[in-house]
Amino acid sequence: MVSSATIIPSEVHFLTNLGMPMQSLDQQIKDLKKNFLSQLDKADSQDALEEIRITYLGRKGKIADLMDQLKNLPLEEKKEFGPQLNELKKFCEITFEEKKEHLNHHRLRQEQRKKEFFDVTASLPNMPQGSLHPLTQLQQEINDIFISMGFEIAQGPEVENERNNFEALNIAKDHPARDMWDTLWLDNTKNLLLRTHTSSVQIHQMEEKKAPLAIVAPGRCYRHEATDATHDFMFSQVEGLFVDHNVSLSNLLATMREFMRKLFAQKQLNMRVRPSYFPFVEPGIEIDIECPFCNHGCSVCKYTEWIEMCGAGLVHPNVLDFCGINHQEYSGFAFGFGLTRLAMLKYSIPDIRLLHANNVEFLKQF
Ligand code: DAH
Repeated sequence: MVSSATIIPSEVHFLTNLGMPMQSLDQQIKDLKKNFLSQLDKADSQDALEEIRITYLGRKGKIADLMDQLKNLPLEEKKEFGPQLNELKKFCEITFEEKKEHLNHHRLRQEQRKKEFFDVTASLPNMPQGSLHPLTQLQQEINDIFISMGFEIAQGPEVENERNNFEALNIAKDHPARDMWDTLWLDNTKNLLLRTHTSSVQIHQMEEKKAPLAIVAPGRCYRHEATDATHDFMFSQVEGLFVDHNVSLSNLLATMREFMRKLFAQKQLNMRVRPSYFPFVEPGIEIDIECPFCNHGCSVCKYTEWIEMCGAGLVHPNVLDFCGINHQEYSGFAFGFGLTRLAMLKYSIPDIRLLHANNVEFLKQF
C-alpha cells in the first residue's frame, strides 16, 4: 500500500483521504472547466453567480483545492501542472467576470424596458397616412386578374429603339400608321425614343421566350401631345399577348370577357366588337363594353351607353416571323388598353393631369 506522501505519476492516482485512487489531475482540470462553464451558462441571477464564485473561485473552492494537491506532486509535475492550474484560474476568473457583466447588462435592460412600456395599440392623432396611388391600385387589381387566368406579368424598357416600337410591329419607316403615335424622339441619330405604346414589350417577350407565351405588360408610355383634360404626354397602358397553337379570335374574346367580368365584378356587362386597324394585328378589332356607370347614358359614356375598352386582334404573321416564331405553326392574340383612361373612368377622375400633379388632397381620396 502506498501512502499519500509517496511520489507517483499523476496520470494514475492521487489517493483520497480514504486511500481510494483519484482521477488524474489532468482529467480533474478538464472536468472542472467543463462543469464550471455549464453551471455559469445556466446561472441567471446574481445569487446563482455568487454560489458559483464560492464553489470554484473561493478560498476553499475547487480551484484552491487543486492548487493544494499540487503541493504534494514531484517537481516535474509541479512544472507541468502549475502553469495549467494558473491558466485555469485566470480563465475562470475572466469568464466569470464576463458573465457577471452580461447578466448585469441584461438586468439593466429589463429594468429599462419596464420603464419604457410601449403600447403598440396606442393611436397617434393627426398622423398623415399614405395610400397607394389610384393607378397603382388599379394596376395591381388588373395584374391579379390576369395572373389568376394564367398570364405572367412582364416589363419592358420605356426608352426604346425604332425597331421594337415600330419596325418589328410591322410599322415600316414611311408607313402612314406612324402618325397614330406622335413620337418623342430622344436621339434621332441612334433611333432612340420614348415608347409610344406597350406593344413594344411584345417584341422583347417573343424574342426572348418564343412560343407558347402568355404575358401581360403594364407600363408607362409617352407621346408628343398637347395636354388637356383627357390627353397627356405620359400615360399608362396594359398590353396582353398570348401565343400558342391554334389561337383564334374566340380565345381573345373569351379572355377579354372573363377579364371584364372580374374587373367589374358586380355587373354583367355586355361587350361589343368593331373592326379596326392596327398594323401589328390581322384582323384588328376594338372592343367596347357597356357603360358600367349608367343604365341609359351618362357623361362618362357621352350618352352612347358604350365605352371603348381596348384595341386588339390576332398577331400579324409578319410580327411572329420577325420575332423568330413560325407563323405557320403558331398564332396569337394581342390587346392593349389605356390603364390611365380606365382609372379615370373607374374613379371618376375628370382631368388626366391630376394623376401626376402630386396633389395630396387629391390623392387622399383613394
Ligand atoms: N398599341 C396600341 C395603341 O397604343 C393599342 C393596341 C391595339 C395594342 C391593338 C394591341 C393591339 O396589342 O392588338 O394604340
